[in-house]
Amino acid sequence: MTKKQLDESVGYLKNKGFDKPEIGIVLGTGLGQLTNEIKNPIEAHYNHIPYFPLATVEFHSGKLIYGTIEGKKVVVMQGRFHLYEGYDFLDVTYPVRVMHQLGIQKLFISNAAGAINLDFKKGDMMLIEDHINLQGGSPLAFKNVAEFGDRFVDMSEPYDVEMREKLEGIAKKEGISLKKGVYVSVVGPQLETKAEYRMLKTMGADAVGMSTVPEVIVANHLRLPIVAVSVLTDECDPDNLKPINIQEIIEIAGKTEPKMVKLFKELINHI
Ligand code: HPA
Repeated sequence: MTKKQLDESVGYLKNKGFDKPEIGIVLGTGLGQLTNEIKNPIEAHYNHIPYFPLATVEFHSGKLIYGTIEGKKVVVMQGRFHLYEGYDFLDVTYPVRVMHQLGIQKLFISNAAGAINLDFKKGDMMLIEDHINLQGGSPLAFKNVAEFGDRFVDMSEPYDVEMREKLEGIAKKEGISLKKGVYVSVVGPQLETKAEYRMLKTMGADAVGMSTVPEVIVANHLRLPIVAVSVLTDECDPDNLKPINIQEIIEIAGKTEPKMVKLFKELINHI
């Protein structure tokens, strides 16, 4: 990754009319409905944006959408890049750097995750308060990282406290249940064994998923405030583990999604 590449990606989008978005939003698996709320949308397909990671077959519909929600200028990533698709850490975080250079001042992230904390049930949402990186690498471990910011990035409070408090307040007001906890990221794409779920619980994780952490590390590199919410799609009980059904995971994400859309819309309204 070079500054010149980033400039070209950003130049392409500015030319298309992506004019100083204030908020960037990354939508997780099965969580695309927020795009229906975007007014005056302008779309840029990932395949057409210079230096964007090359899309896989599964990914042909991935796009960045610019427009307004609740009167605020936003840029939304419909579909994200995952390590399990064969992308590397620089690939999966490149869009965050692009959105930052376009001008966003806040980043919202959503994902689908498994509930490790068994007080949480499928269909619950969890506000991420902290994370554990078990993906075996870092999006900041590259040679010219110093051109883009510090190498040794502080991670003592990676998720913005003010936005977390706001989101909790909104959830309360709207009567939406919002759990809080620690998200652990794994590479996937295989799901976890019973022994792994036990280990993750012992480590202090409340939810497990295959994304988000690389984007959050890069957002911290860019000093970009983040709020992240997991939609819990399955219960990871090692003593009663049923075979996982990806179709069901996507279905549960879809069913829970209207609540997530409500939370994000209200948060956009209040910042
Ligand atoms: N493990 C990892 N990733 C996931 C899970 C899970 O149980 N559910 C949804 N994403």
